[in-house]
Amino acid sequence: ISRSCSTKENVTMSSKGGARIVVDDDDEMLSPTDLSELLADGTKESHDRAENCQFVKDFLRGHIKRELFKRGTAALYFVYTAMEEEIEKNKDHPHIAPIYFPVELHRSEALARDLEYFYGEDWEKQISVSVGTKPYVERIREVGEKDPVLLVAHSYTRYMGDLSGGQILKKVAQRALKLPSTGEGLNFYQFEGIHSHKGFKQLYRSRMNELELDVETKQRIVDESNRAFGFNMMVFSELEEIGKSIKEEFQDPGFGHSHAEVMQGG
Ligand code: HEM
Repeated sequence: ISRSCSTKENVTMSSKGGARIVVDDDDEMLSPTDLSELLADGTKESHDRAENCQFVKDFLRGHIKRELFKRGTAALYFVYTAMEEEIEKNKDHPHIAPIYFPVELHRSEALARDLEYFYGEDWEKQISVSVGTKPYVERIREVGEKDPVLLVAHSYTRYMGDLSGGQILKKVAQRALKLPSTGEGLNFYQFEGIHSHKGFKQLYRSRMNELELDVETKQRIVDESNRAFGFNMMVFSELEEIGKSIKEEFQDPGFGHSHAEVMQGG
């Protein structure tokens, strides 16, 4: 399984320096040395690459097979279970406590309900950690045990992404897979404890920025986030490969969101 899904290889991670103070569109003061800014800048290239994975592009166009969606949901279940267990173990750690939002963010129970919908009551017996997901899960466990500050990177990579593109993905999946409007099978995308995604992302960014971290640790967090993007791309590549050997057609050709449309949605 290749680590990268896109054609762009050897991307250099750039981060712009300078003592510039910027005011974002919400009038909040941000410095380029704030972790939220370092992460946004330092993972831009990874984000571009993730969006260009074939699996991701197909998904956005509504080209998603039910079997692949089920497997993707199972992969996420193992990832979030590991991440949330490690966060739970470290919830009193000074670098984790400020970004500990179990009620608002945690997804493993929502994913379990989705898996029960797709696989039935004995869903747990039917799923296992795939080859492409295993290194991701193992890295999360390792970080949780040896270097918990890096859990900040794993949380950021997944939760901020879920709060950003998630609503579009939910609509695409709902229509392509003809899932009920009640939201069954799509609990993962529904953050019941968050009313404003934008507002919550601002709170989360400000909590990350209030963590007491030296420059070196901030850089390690950015690096770990890029690793997390890489792990996600490994999962996408694996799903893409599996998709090639599945006969089933996606159910609603002609439907989908263009990338430009999604990027405007925020
Ligand atoms: C942010 C779209 C895939 C992680 C965003 C934003 C958009 C977006 C529009 C900006 C939201 C804002 O400005 O507030 C998409 C689309 C994707 C995709 C269309 C393809 C389906 C991913 C993947 C990941 C990810 C695969 C990682 C697993 C993130 C993160 C942010 C983000 C961490 C927050 C960036 C920041 O403000 O620091 N995404 N995304 N995204 N996305 Fe994605």
